Formats: sequence, C-alpha cells, structure tokens
Amino acid sequence: MKDFAFTGGRPDPFTFPTEALIEASAKALRDLGGSLVNYPGDNGYRGLRELASMRFERREGVPLPVDNISLTSGSMQALDLVLSTFIEPGDTILTEELTYSGTLGIMRHLKANIVGIPMDYVDGMNVDALDARLKELKAQGIRPKLIYTTANHQNPTAAILTLERRERLLELANTYDTLIVEDDCYGDIDFVPNPTPDALFKLDDSNRVIFIATFSKILGAGVRQGYFVARQPYYDAIHENRWDGGTSALASAIVAEFFKNQLDEHLAVTNAAVGAKCRAVTETLEKNVADLCSWTQPRGGLFLWITLPETTDMEKLVELAGKHNAGFSEGRVFHYRSDPIKCIRLAYAYCHVDNIPEGITYLCEAIRAAQVESIDIAAD
Ligand SMILES: Cc1ncc(COP(=O)(O)O)c(C=O)c1O
Repeated sequence: MKDFAFTGGRPDPFTFPTEALIEASAKALRDLGGSLVNYPGDNGYRGLRELASMRFERREGVPLPVDNISLTSGSMQALDLVLSTFIEPGDTILTEELTYSGTLGIMRHLKANIVGIPMDYVDGMNVDALDARLKELKAQGIRPKLIYTTANHQNPTAAILTLERRERLLELANTYDTLIVEDDCYGDIDFVPNPTPDALFKLDDSNRVIFIATFSKILGAGVRQGYFVARQPYYDAIHENRWDGGTSALASAIVAEFFKNQLDEHLAVTNAAVGAKCRAVTETLEKNVADLCSWTQPRGGLFLWITLPETTDMEKLVELAGKHNAGFSEGRVFHYRSDPIKCIRLAYAYCHVDNIPEGITYLCEAIRAAQVESIDIAAD
C-alpha cells in the first residue's frame, strides 16, 4: 500500500542533493584529515558557523556574530540546552497556545509552568493578550523566565508574526524583564519572493533574544546540524550547561562545503518543490472539503493547519485515514495543555507530489466519514 505520510516536519526527499553531498564529503574529509582526532569544542566547526552567519545575512541584511554561534545536534539540542539553562521546575514560560510538540516536551520535562498565549493563524501571537497575561503574572509576583516563539512559518499553523507584533513583543520583553527564544526553524522555506519581517534577533537592541535555527528543514533532519546564537552573558551560561564534547565537525564541514556556493540555488530548487506540494494539498482540499473545513494558506514552511467541524470524531478519523496510510498529526499534540481540539496538521513536503491528490482525497473522505452526524444519518 502507498504511504501518504503527512506527518513529521521533513523536507522534500526527492530534491535531496545526494551527489553534491558525496562531493562535499570527499572535499571536507580531505580538508579536515587528521584534525578530526580533536574534539570540535563547545561552539563547533568555524566554517559552518560562518555559513550560518552568511545565511542570516542573505535574508536579514546583517550577519550573525560568528563567535556567538554554537553548533548543536539539530535545533532540538539547542532548545534543550537553552531551556534547561534558564528554567527551574515551576518557572513560567509563555508561548503561542499552539506550538511545536517537541519544545512542549522539553518544557514539560523541565516541569515548567507553560502559559499559552492566544494567537491567530495568520499573524501569530496576539501581543495584546500577551501584555494582559504578563500584567496578571506580575500582579501575582511571577516573572516569566522566557517567551518562546516561532515567528516565521510557525509550526503548526504557518503563521508569520507581523513586524508590528515583533516590535511590541520586544518592548514587552523589556518592560517585564524576560528573555525571548526565537525558533527560526522554517525561516528560509518561502514560496514567495517578498521577505518575512525582520528577525527578532535583528530587531533586538537590549539583549533579550536568543536565536535558534537548523539545517534539518532545508537539507535533512538526518544531518543533525542546528545552532543557537546568544550574546553574553547568556552564551557562556548556556555552555556551562553543555557536556557533550561538541557537534560532529565532519558533518558540519560537509554541510558547510555543500552550502558555501549553492545556498541560493538549493533553496530555489527545494522551495519550488515544496511550494508545488503545498498547492497540490490546498487544491485537493478545496475540491473535497471546502464545505466542511477551513485551513491556513502557507506562504512558506512545511505545515498546513486544518480546522475540522466540531462534529468530528477524532478517533474515527485516525482509524479511517489510517486504513489508506494517510497520516497526519492530531492538533492536541501542539496545544500547550493538550486540549482535544478539532484540528489537524499536515506536513506536505515529504509525500511525492504525484501522490498528494490521492492521499489527500483519502484524508478528505475520512474527514467526511468521521462526522458524528453523518454517521448517525447513515445508521438510520
Ligand atoms: C519549531 C521547531 N523547532 C525545532 C525543531 C527541531 O528540529 P531539529 O532538531 O531537527 O533541528 C522542529 C522540528 O520539527 C521544529 O518544528
């Protein structure tokens, strides 16, 4: 049976640059040679830090400070290091009420008090609601340790925080004396030429923002190359919490070698492929469930968020879609309190583009058949 995997935030496997990476690997190994007997050190292979800096400059017009970048095993390790440096059990963290399940997992593991801030699916976190929540917390004598946000192409909704909201978020972080962790996991996956608003890290002039990014979503999660960027004293504070000997210099050097002359070209090819898949998904949804559901219209990133009718039997939906291997992620895993919301997330980059209409049609049929009322009517 075909596998229609709309689960997991993976990039397009069909544009994965295997041959170019084989060449980059040979070059990297020759260049590094015996230096690979050394540990990479806490901050990691300089060539990839320079590349990360240039990557930011390409989009934001200013480079990242190379000596403030630290390479990690995917951005998951960066999140783990950053959050565990600042969070003690019982500390308060604010975040969009829907956010990446992996980050929620770390926050829960650290026994943080997670406060979800209402958001809309287009413009991101509602900063008025954030302001109100911060006021309430202050009145209770609580100073949140940090605000976690995915400002670009948010996981799971594809929302993009507007410039105005970014500026307000920074002001609030200042007023209430808290840090911002900006997770830029999807920042370079854009299907339209107009740029996303400036990064919080770029806009920040009072050392409030720690920036996190990854090569997982523009190359592959299997390479495990991510990073955080923090100014002092945070950079050293995070490293005091690090014991792993550093991130594979070999893997870092291969990624740096591959991207150094072809970042633009690679992004053009992969973003075109992923954008076509996103359109194939929305067109099929439009044909089949426009009367039942609403969904976001991503201009980038890897995810589309579908709001289902309240009459959807979620268990039945999982079961029916599963019969055709049409996989998706249930909305509740992204909710800060795991509320059983009637929403699902589709990750559209992994499935072959030719299989998308068939897979999404199965999913749409399952959505229709999982309506409690329609089941009742059928049973009468
Ligand atoms: C918002 C966000 N941050 C971080 C990650 C972790 O990715 P990685 O560790 O592969 O860089 C993910 C993965 O899906 C994600 O969606």
